[in-house]
Amino acid sequence: MVDIHCHIVPGVDDGSTSVEMSLEMIAAAKRSGVTAILTTPHIRGRAEDVVVHSFHKENFQKVLDTRPDIDLYLGCEVRVTPETHDIISHSEFTSNERSKYILLELEFDKVPAYFSQLIFEYRLAGITPIVAHPERNVGVLQNPEYAIDFVRQGALLQVTNGSVLGELGESFQRCAINLIECGLVSFLASDAHNISTRPFTNWSETYEFVQNLEKKGNSLLPINADYLCTHNPFAVCQGTPIPSIELDEPLLSRIRSRLLQATEPTVKRKRFFFM
Ligand SMILES: [Fe+2]
Repeated sequence: MVDIHCHIVPGVDDGSTSVEMSLEMIAAAKRSGVTAILTTPHIRGRAEDVVVHSFHKENFQKVLDTRPDIDLYLGCEVRVTPETHDIISHSEFTSNERSKYILLELEFDKVPAYFSQLIFEYRLAGITPIVAHPERNVGVLQNPEYAIDFVRQGALLQVTNGSVLGELGESFQRCAINLIECGLVSFLASDAHNISTRPFTNWSETYEFVQNLEKKGNSLLPINADYLCTHNPFAVCQGTPIPSIELDEPLLSRIRSRLLQATEPTVKRKRFFFM
């Protein structure tokens, strides 16, 4: 399995605090069946983050210097703000130097109105945005049609292992499973931060859980745990294309009704994107 969202660069964000902890996290990842890691330290999404990212590179190199027996790549988790438009031309922030994917993190309480424009601009620049853990965003929880819009605009969705397993709460789990069963998700990832409260160790369990979802036969499209856990994430590390998700009108209306049924909407939102 290949993890494209975690925080093993030591001493740069709320993830690993030391090289020793990073190595313990890598050992836990390997025990859980992970063979390659794209590590994604947080940045704020501003032009001056080029300097911040050079610090990431230095500390990432300290981990590489220990010659860990696993493939490691350096990317970023970019917090979406109105300033994120400014960094589109900075290739430093894509998932690695060769790759044309970028991991974007929304604030937890909403989907900002400018987000569709940001996805559009990244696509125009030839970079595919990956939306980190949409199942944990209040806007998506209340109006899951946002998730459909992200995919229709050309973004890919990454759901977090802990959400799938219910470790982060029932509503996140319900949303994560629905998104997977609707065929909207391209990646699972750990978002591991440390060796205790947010570890790598749920990988094999998540893989099995997703395989069982497929066996239950409730999904609108086939679920392939290997694609979610290995093939697609590996393509991000290598910078190779991932087939886009085709959403024709009959499928879209089935997805909409499935997502709306499973939601407890408190807000009826206006759609912000038409295609
Ligand atoms: Fe993260």
